[in-house]
Formats: sequence, structure tokens, C-alpha cells
Amino acid sequence: MGTPSDKKLINENGLRLDGRGDEELRPIKISTDILERADGSAFMEWGGNKILVAVYGPREAYPKHTQDIEKSVVKARYNMAAFSVDERKRPGPDRRSTEISKVISEALSAAVMVEQFPRTQIDVFIEVIQADAGTRIASLTAASVALASAGIPMRDMVVGCSAGKVEDRIVLDLSKDEDNFGQADLPMAVLSKNKQVVLIQMDGDLSKEEFARATDMIMKATDRIAEIQRKALSEKYKIENLSESQNG
Ligand code: CDP
Repeated sequence: MGTPSDKKLINENGLRLDGRGDEELRPIKISTDILERADGSAFMEWGGNKILVAVYGPREAYPKHTQDIEKSVVKARYNMAAFSVDERKRPGPDRRSTEISKVISEALSAAVMVEQFPRTQIDVFIEVIQADAGTRIASLTAASVALASAGIPMRDMVVGCSAGKVEDRIVLDLSKDEDNFGQADLPMAVLSKNKQVVLIQMDGDLSKEEFARATDMIMKATDRIAEIQRKALSEKYKIENLSESQNG
């Protein structure tokens, strides 16, 4: 959370600064197969976030000591472009991007059938080219689509969303101002079918009741976001089937 401020985050009509109601998501768009040289890729726009994901693998894990004889290692690398934020971000890894890469890698490992590919690694390169709050859950949601578009066997999709507290109200999918000037931010991700939680972090404070309300809002929203993921992938397979039937 940013420094406390007098900034009004709820207007006189009870709406948020961007006109949304408490449980409204920002617009989300996902497309697949953006990059020719990657095994799978996705481009996601979520509010003002613009995120590109490229997936490579499974391929032999290198260096060799990183190999796991029982499963594939998912290596996500989250990177924010220098021009992605208001104040230029110093290029290269930092504590924040190392942490985000780690939690994303762990969340994706729960979805991928890693046991089918021992000694390999699956690289997930995440490039945030425009950041607008909620990039970790947007990246994770997009990465899941990119993995599926690479044809990597998965038991389920990972779908993320955040909720938080602004002016003592629990609201879904924080905007940049709400993230900066609000009271709490709760990013969370689940496996879309069985709702197993694969990422949960919290910045700020929530009471037990507020936490329950926030997680409930997120759970409901993940169904809507999972539908957008499915549409992106069904577009891809529709197009592939069409070109196969034209060729054959
Ligand atoms: O992006 P996410 O909400 O997952 O992570 P955060 O660490 O809570 O960052 C919130 C937002 O702060 C990011 O989405 C960016 O818009 C912004 N940010 C920034 O302006 N400069 C940075 N060096 C890092 C983050």
C-alpha cells in the first residue's frame, strides 16, 4: 500500500474513480499465439496492464544440477519493462520481480502435469510492458493460457484476481490508485475447477470478516475470468481446426 492520503477513491455516487461498482472487474482481453518462435504465447490486457508471455519447453533442464529426476521444473521469469511504469524502472531483476517470479512458478507448477516430464524445465517468460496494478495475477492468468497454447498437459488452468479495501469497502480488482492509496490488497489465484488456492498474498490489513468477503468476491470473479481464458483458447483451436480441414 502507498502512503496514506486524503485522495477520494469512492465518488459521490458510491462508485469507484473509474466508474466501477464494488464487484466489477476491469476489462480483460487475452489472445494466444502472438510469437512465432515460442512454443506457446499469450498477450493479455487487463485494465491498463499489457503483458506478453512466451513459453518454451518442456526441454532438458540446464544447468544439469537444476534437473529434478521426478518432474519438470517450471521456471517463470517476471520482468517489468523500464517504460512500463510512471517512474522509469531500473532494468533487470530486483527483489520484487524475484519474489513474483517465485510465486508464479509455484502456482503454475500446481497446474502443469510436471510428473510427465522428468529432468526437463518449462520456461515461462513474462514481460510486463505496461503496468497498472495487479500485474502478478494478470501475468499468472495469461501464463496459464500460454502454457495451454503450447500444448503442455495441465490438470487445470490457473486463474487469478485481487480484491482489496478502499475507504473501508471491500472491492474487486484494485486499480492503480486504489492499490497506491487504499488500505489493503489481496492478490489470489486458484485452480479454476477445484478452486484449490495456489497463490495468496496480502498487503495491508483486513479483519476476518473482510478477508472472507474479499476471498468470496475473488472466487466468484475467477469463474468469469476462466471463461475469458477458455474463449481465448477456443478461438485458437477453432482457427487451427479450420486450417487443418482446409489443408486436408
Ligand atoms: O502489480 P502487482 O499489483 O501484482 O504488484 P505490486 O508490487 O503491488 O505493484 C502494484 C503496482 O505498482 C504495479 O502493478 C505497478 O503499476 C506499480 N509499480 C510501479 O509503479 N513501479 C514499480 N517499480 C513497481 C510497481
